[in-house]
Amino acid sequence: MKSYLIIRRAHAIAGVIGFVLILTFWTSTAWAELFGTYEMIAAVKQNILWGMVILVPAMAAIGGSGFRLMGKGRDPLLLAKKQRMMIIGPNGLLILVPAAFYLNSLASQGLFGFSFYAVQMIEIVAGAINLTLMGLNMRDGLRATGRIP
Ligand code: HEM
Repeated sequence: MKSYLIIRRAHAIAGVIGFVLILTFWTSTAWAELFGTYEMIAAVKQNILWGMVILVPAMAAIGGSGFRLMGKGRDPLLLAKKQRMMIIGPNGLLILVPAAFYLNSLASQGLFGFSFYAVQMIEIVAGAINLTLMGLNMRDGLRATGRIP
């Protein structure tokens, strides 16, 4: 029982870290694109790669601990979280991570052409989807533990 609570706490902390990091990447990207210089955009793209050194392990920890906590449970709130994770994971690994590398590579060479903005748009949309799904998972996690109604 005690280890369940420890894993649950670690899960929630990793969840908040993941959510805040993606929120930071998303808002700093939008801000730099709208108001910043090319240098600023390139700096944001570079920093996102460094941030992923924390984000990727945090996401793995969220998924690993979440599935472990869930076990064979059948709570619909938690089943919904699992389904969302089936979108969050591939969306992150197949779209957001490659996009971050590609955008950083173009930005570091000053190549702000069609390819950059096309992939940037995809990244903004995919990032917003993951943020929304992670927010819903946070809400349903807190509901499942009775912290919010
Ligand atoms: C993807 C982002 C996720 C976030 C941000 C998140 C967040 C949270 C939070 C904040 C809690 C409440 C912890 C507490 O009150 O002590 C929680 C609990 C929980 N989460 Fe997640 N979670 C995520 C993904 C998942 C996944 C993928 C699963 C499993 C399939 C999962 C399964 C659980 C379980 C089983 C609990 C404990 C419920 C209980 O004890 O009644 N979570 N989560």
